[in-house]
Amino acid sequence: MLQIVGKISVATTLVFFGLTAPAMAQSYNNLALTPPMGWNSWNVFHENINEKQIQQIADAMVSSGLKDAGYIYLNLDDNWMAKHRDANGKLTHDPDRFSSGMKALGDYIHSKGLKFGIYGDRGTRTCHHYNNSDQFPGSESGSNGREDLDAKTFASWGVDYLKYDNCESNPNTQEKDYTAMSKALLNSGRDIVFSICMWEYKEWMPKIANLWRTTFDIGPAWISTSWYRGVYQIIDDNNKYWQNAKPGNWNDPDMLEVGNNGLSYEEQKSQMTMWSIMAAPIMISSDVRNMSNEVKELYLNKEMIAINQDSLGVQGHRISDVDGKQVWTKPLRSGDIAVALLNNNSSTQTVECTFADLGIEGEVEVYDAWQKKNLGARTSVSAELPAHGSALLRLIIKPVPRKPFKGKAFAIPGKIEMEDFDINGVGWGNTTYNENDSEDHGATEGGSSYRPGTGVDIYKKATGYIVGYNQAGEWLEYSVKVAKTGTYTMSAAVASANSTSSFKLSMDGEDITEEIAVPQASSGENNFDDYNEVEATVNLTEGEHVLRWTVTGDWMDIDYIKFCTEGQCEATSAIRQANSAAVQNITAPRLLKKGNALFVEKGGMRFDLTGHRIK
Ligand code: GLA
Repeated sequence: MLQIVGKISVATTLVFFGLTAPAMAQSYNNLALTPPMGWNSWNVFHENINEKQIQQIADAMVSSGLKDAGYIYLNLDDNWMAKHRDANGKLTHDPDRFSSGMKALGDYIHSKGLKFGIYGDRGTRTCHHYNNSDQFPGSESGSNGREDLDAKTFASWGVDYLKYDNCESNPNTQEKDYTAMSKALLNSGRDIVFSICMWEYKEWMPKIANLWRTTFDIGPAWISTSWYRGVYQIIDDNNKYWQNAKPGNWNDPDMLEVGNNGLSYEEQKSQMTMWSIMAAPIMISSDVRNMSNEVKELYLNKEMIAINQDSLGVQGHRISDVDGKQVWTKPLRSGDIAVALLNNNSSTQTVECTFADLGIEGEVEVYDAWQKKNLGARTSVSAELPAHGSALLRLIIKPVPRKPFKGKAFAIPGKIEMEDFDINGVGWGNTTYNENDSEDHGATEGGSSYRPGTGVDIYKKATGYIVGYNQAGEWLEYSVKVAKTGTYTMSAAVASANSTSSFKLSMDGEDITEEIAVPQASSGENNFDDYNEVEATVNLTEGEHVLRWTVTGDWMDIDYIKFCTEGQCEATSAIRQANSAAVQNITAPRLLKKGNALFVEKGGMRFDLTGHRIK
C-alpha cells in the first residue's frame, strides 16, 4: 500500500500513517486517456435523428470495421429529448422519434460493443430548442439547476459520454455550471467522459473535463465565409492550445467533415492528417451507412489512428510555416516523431522538411501513412502536395543502448538528490515539450546554476536543489548500488499544485513501484513549494543497477528519494554521486534549439527530448 507519510515543509515531520494515496488518475476521472474516437449525429443529421437510424448507424459502425479500428463512441447530439420533462422532473426521450426510450437505445448500442454518448446543455434550453424557440416554447431541455438529477438519469440509461453545450445560459456562470455537471457526473455512479462545448478554451476546463471545444462550430469549407468555421481556420485556432493536451485532457477542434459534401478529397485527407497530429478527438459525422471506399479508407488508416492515439498524449504543433508550406511534429511514446506536411495554398506546392531542422542528425527511416509505405532511410522529405493537401509521416528513431556510467553509484540504503541524475547514459529528463521552456528554467528563473545546459530544470530552494517542471513521460536515471538484497522503504519528497500528479520507479527496465500519487499542495493552486513525502515498499537486489524515475501524471517537482531498511532512513546522502561532466569525461551537454526543434547534444551525440539518440 502506498502512503502519504508526511509534510516536510514544516520543521517536524508529521506522519499520517494509514492514509491511502488517492486512486491513480491521469485526469480528474481517469477516463479518455487517449483522444476519444467515434461518431456524432449533429453535422450529418442535425435535429433529424431517430431510433431506427441510430441503430442502423450502430450496425454500420460494426460491419464497416470502424468499431474495431477504435471508433467506439456513438454519440447522439441535440434533439433526442422531449420538450418537457416527465412527472418526476427527469429528462425524457422524444416520444415519436425515440419511442423505445433512451435506456433501450443505450442497451442496443452496448450490445454492439459500442459506447453510448448523449448531449445536454448547461442553460435552460439546448441550442436547437433555443434557436427554434417558436417550435419549443417552454422547453425544459437544459440541465441548469438540475445537474445531479440529469447526471443520474444519464447514468441509469447507461450513458458513457456527455457533450455539454452552452445555449440559453448565463455568461457569468460558465465555470460554476460546468463544474456542477462535472461533479454530478462523478457522483452519478457511472464512468462518463465529460466533453465541454463552450466554443472556447478556459484554463479551468482541464480540471473538470476530459475535452473541450476550442472553437465555434466547424462547417464543410477549408476557409469559411459563413457563420461557421472552416477546417483550416480551426486548425490554426486549435494549435494555440497544444500545450494543454495530455492523457485525459484534450483540445476538441470539433467533428470531422470528412464524408460530407463541401470539402475536396485532399481537404478531407488533410482534416484526417491534422486531427491525427493534433491528438484531437476523432468524431465522424457522416452517414456511415453509405460510405464511399475513399472515405472509408481515410477513416480506417491504421497509422493515422496510431499517431492520434499515441499514449504519450502530446498534441503535435506547427514548427514552421513558409508561405503556407507547413511542418508539424508530434513526439510519440516510442521515441518516434510524427510529422505532418501541409500545403495551405490553393495551388500545388512542394513542402520540404529537412530532419536536421528537427534536431535529427543523419538518416532515419520514414514511413508514409497515406501511401502506406516505407520511404527508406533519409535525411529529409519533400512532397509535392496539391492545394490544401498533406502528408503524414512517422520518423522511426532507433534508440541506442545506454553508455556505461563512469561516475560513482548512489549507495542504497541512502539518499539520492534528484539533481544528481546520470548524464552519461540516455537518461535525459526531457524536461518539457514546451518550446518556451527550452532554456533551463532553473538557471534563469530559480536562480540555479547547478548543471546548467542539461535542459533539466533545477531550482535552488531553501532545502537545496530540486528538479522542477516535470511532466508525463519525462524521466531521469540514477546509477545505484544496493548493499544487500531485501525489502526497503522508499520515500520521495515531492510537490505538486495538481491533484493528478504521479510517478513510478523502475530498475533495469522493470517497474519496482506502481504509480505513486503526489499529493496536491494544500495551500492552493500554483503552489509547488508544499512538499510531501510519499512512500512505497520495494524489493531490491544486491548489486549495481540503473534506477529510473518517470513522471506518469500531471506536472510535479521532486527533491530527493531515500531508500531505507527497517524504517531507519538515512538523514543525509551516504555518497554524493560524482557524476559531473568532468568526471565522466564528456563535453557538458547542451540543450539546443534549431528552428522550433529542441534536442540535447552531449558527448558529441544528439538526443531527442525523450532521451533517444538521434543519429
Ligand atoms: C452547438 C454545438 C454544435 C451542436 C449544436 C446542436 O452549436 O456547438 O456542435 O451540438 O449546438 O444544437
